[in-house]
Amino acid sequence: MQIIAEPKKMQLLSEQLRREGKLLGFVPTMGALHEGHLRLIRKARREADVVIVSIFVNPIQFNDPEDLAKYPRTFNEDVYKLEMEGVQILFAPTAEQMYPPGFSTFVEVQNLDRYMEGAHRPGHFRGVTTVVLKLFNITKPHFAVFGLKDAQQYYIVKRMVEDLNLDVEMVPHETVREPDGLAMSSRNRLLSPESRRQATALYRALKLGKEMIFSGERDPWKVKDEMRRFLKREAPLGEIDYVEIASIPDLQPVSEIEGKILLALAVKFPEARLIDNFILLPEDRLVWNERID
Ligand code: PAF
Repeated sequence: MQIIAEPKKMQLLSEQLRREGKLLGFVPTMGALHEGHLRLIRKARREADVVIVSIFVNPIQFNDPEDLAKYPRTFNEDVYKLEMEGVQILFAPTAEQMYPPGFSTFVEVQNLDRYMEGAHRPGHFRGVTTVVLKLFNITKPHFAVFGLKDAQQYYIVKRMVEDLNLDVEMVPHETVREPDGLAMSSRNRLLSPESRRQATALYRALKLGKEMIFSGERDPWKVKDEMRRFLKREAPLGEIDYVEIASIPDLQPVSEIEGKILLALAVKFPEARLIDNFILLPEDRLVWNERID
């Protein structure tokens, strides 16, 4: 595996690979790789001639400096895992290489960031879209794989790709879960044993919401209230940031449950803040992101 830190060098290599007719698949990450990331990489491997993975803990998407400082960094283990997966290129720049002195350009997708993560993490999505656009320009992929645990991020980046006519295909991947339902996340390793035990409540609250909706409940407030009550009871160490039901793809809270919706929540445990979601199509009783493999 080639490890490249210099953006210009990465860009030249991608240009050359494209000239050679290679199909480039890209998986952006912030490292601390777990099985969830590896599934995205395997999906990219199945489709692409060359898989590029990036590891970059992007400082401008962290609104909380403590969260940035605590974010797990396991570079050597990550390199080993990527080599085992047969990844051909790792792009791992430094913050100085991505944001040299004088850096002043930011990309913002409006409205889609008004609720959920956007409301609770001011500036977060501006940081995400800015870095993803830079990463796309540097790695020049034909397609990029994004995990749906960060569903709001996926729809915001997809909107940016459409709005700015970017020549990258967005490929979503369902959330990968632990056997007890907890969505895999780099932050899970920060949880104390008791928080980890209570953290399964996120998944179980989503299942409760889904069951209410599939039984015909169409009032979002009733579903959200029931889910909140459940979370308070089952995860007393957690502080609820939000439980939301939003329309897809515009990500606005709904006043009546219909069409494709995002059932999303965020809970702050003492050691880490966790998010999770189901995507539902109630009329067809379809659900994405629920499955445990
Ligand atoms: O989802 C993530 O890990 C990050 O937000 C991303 C897409 C790598 C941008 O920093």
